[in-house]
Amino acid sequence: MQRDRYGNGVATSSQAAVAAYDAGVDHVLAATAGARGAFAKAVTSDPGFALAHVGAARAAMYAGDMGAAKAALARAEALTGGVSARERAHIGEFGLLLAGKPMDARRAVEAHVLEYPRDAMVAQVCTNIFGLIGFSGEPGREAALLAYTGALLPHYGDDWWMGSMHALSLCEVGQTGAALEMMEVSLARYGANANASHFKAHALYEEGRTAEGRAYLDGWMAGYAPEALLHGHLSWHQALWALQDGDWERMWGHYRGGIAPGVSHSLPINVLTDGAALLWRAEMAGASVAPQDWRALSAYATQHFPNPSQSFADIHAALAHAMAGDGQALARIAQTSRGFAAELVGPVAQAWGAVARGQWSAALEALTPVMADHARLGGSRAQRDLLELTWLLCLMRTGARDEARRAAATRRPVFAGAAPIAGFA
Ligand SMILES: [Fe+2]
Repeated sequence: MQRDRYGNGVATSSQAAVAAYDAGVDHVLAATAGARGAFAKAVTSDPGFALAHVGAARAAMYAGDMGAAKAALARAEALTGGVSARERAHIGEFGLLLAGKPMDARRAVEAHVLEYPRDAMVAQVCTNIFGLIGFSGEPGREAALLAYTGALLPHYGDDWWMGSMHALSLCEVGQTGAALEMMEVSLARYGANANASHFKAHALYEEGRTAEGRAYLDGWMAGYAPEALLHGHLSWHQALWALQDGDWERMWGHYRGGIAPGVSHSLPINVLTDGAALLWRAEMAGASVAPQDWRALSAYATQHFPNPSQSFADIHAALAHAMAGDGQALARIAQTSRGFAAELVGPVAQAWGAVARGQWSAALEALTPVMADHARLGGSRAQRDLLELTWLLCLMRTGARDEARRAAATRRPVFAGAAPIAGFA
């Protein structure tokens, strides 16, 4: 029996197929370009290798090609005759994911990793910010992610991927020092891992180390392919730091060159959320945003997220619609009952509408209850600073400047001295 890089038995006798499969898995785990090609090579080497088809399905999902993902998974499902119990369960869990059953998939994955903790492709589904725990909408989901990766970590020895995933979990509960330490170890083992450079950037952002973060990420990005999964989002991180430095030229350069619709190769959820967040954070910091930029994002949201259901995307779609003046699309989101945190989406959408009309008291009123636990909406702390900064702006615009300063100091101390809002300092 052949074994993959993590020591799991795989039903193929082809060494070439396993080598290509391992390369594909590494591309998925590191968010580097090349996963689809690697899994295609594995399938060509042994068309009967079931998990190579699952890998192809996962890579297609990351390329936003759901039709190809379902077709690849169907090929895996037709090959369950000669596979192990681990492989059969692995295929089944991706089946749940592709069938649009995230709750069932999460339960199945959590049970699966108890028995097969080193089945990294399955374990991966519940890790990271946009994974099944991150997008569960549950109160306490940041702690749940930390518990999940913490339980898996001892099974992975000095593995670069699991190290980076646990460091990410640490960062998002505020353990930035421990996160940075672990991420450095992970990066020393495999410096190409974009999930590691990404959350090293997050930890530096959380600690307010703007100059250091900019220098690090600008250097790292020079070697990262524009078509790779995280290129658009890491461009957003570069742009945010440029914004915080008042370097508008670089900020717009990142937007026009790597983030905006039609330019970014990222998944639609990243194009929408990064684009809308950057434009509004730029406006809050004092930049003027051209109406056509908002209209382009609003049209993109309508095209890719016509019906609310992805709460994290929905709050950003609502922002784009509000700023572009599409009241109908905004109202649809404000009234939604669909999505993992739908009851928080409505108030946020109402707040964006009020912000766009300059009704700051109404915006403050709508947003305040959401602030108690906006982590349920998904996304990283850095992404949800969109809400934190907007809330501070609402306090400032309603004359509560002292309260705004206290709120920054208690909720986001990194912004206590200098939140990136015009007139805050
Ligand atoms: Fe990020």
